[in-house]
Amino acid sequence: MKIFNTRNQLREYLDELSPIGQTIGFVPTMGALHEGHLSLLARSRGQTDVTVCSIFVNPTQFNDPKDLEKYPRPIASDTEKLEQACCDILFHPEVGEMYAGNEHWHLDIGELEHLLEGKFRPGHYQGVTQVVYKLFDIVKPDLAFFGQKDYQQFLVIQRMVDMLDLPVKLVMCPILREPDGLAMSSRNIHLSAKDRQHALVLSKTLDWLKNNFDRNRIAALQEECFDRINAEPGVHAEYFEITDGTDLHPANSKTQNIVALVAARVGNTRLIDNVILRSRAIVHGS
Ligand code: PAJ
Repeated sequence: MKIFNTRNQLREYLDELSPIGQTIGFVPTMGALHEGHLSLLARSRGQTDVTVCSIFVNPTQFNDPKDLEKYPRPIASDTEKLEQACCDILFHPEVGEMYAGNEHWHLDIGELEHLLEGKFRPGHYQGVTQVVYKLFDIVKPDLAFFGQKDYQQFLVIQRMVDMLDLPVKLVMCPILREPDGLAMSSRNIHLSAKDRQHALVLSKTLDWLKNNFDRNRIAALQEECFDRINAEPGVHAEYFEITDGTDLHPANSKTQNIVALVAARVGNTRLIDNVILRSRAIVHGS
């Protein structure tokens, strides 16, 4: 695996590949890699000639400085995992390489910025679009792979791609879970053994909802799920919403694509999860 820390070196290398018609797949990450990340990588390897993975803990998308500080950065074991997964290229820049000066970024992504995650993490999606735009500009991928785990992030990035007419196709990949149902996340290592058990209420509630979705009104189900999560000791739900999967507005019985999304604090750790309840029209290019 080739490893690059500067955009110029990476670009020089990639420039040699494009004339020979190699397609490029891209998996942007913030590291602390788990099987979920590696499943994106496997997808990219299956669908493109050359797979680039980036590891960059992007400061502009953290609205809580403590969260940024304690974000895990196990670069040696991450590099080994990528080698084993046969990744072709790792891009691992320093903060100064990605943000040279005091730059200003604002992209009007409309309501998506202020719903759900946007409400609880103000400015988060400006930071995400800022860094993903830069990374797309450096890597120039044909396909870029993102997880359904961050469902709203996928919609936001798709919105940016559409608005700016960027020449990349996004692929949404399914959520990988631990055997007991907990959605894999780089943040799970912060959970104490007790919190880890309490955290299962998220996936269990989403499962329950999936199995009971046609049995009650959406508003009643949503309230019941929110209450179930809050009833778990040590767990505080920030939101539980059953939404239209295309714009995250509240769903009704006629909505074609329905996704339930949840965010909760478990001890000091903030976790998110979701489930697709109905997908009648093809929304994404996966
Ligand atoms: P990060 O949280 O490291 O996630 C990188 C990618 O892995 C995202 O597309 C995310 O949805 C996906 N992912 C995370 N957990 C997953 C799971 N359990 N199953 C499947 N895929 C999973 O998302 C980011 O980084 C950043 O915001 C980034 C896009 C890199 C911009 O900084």
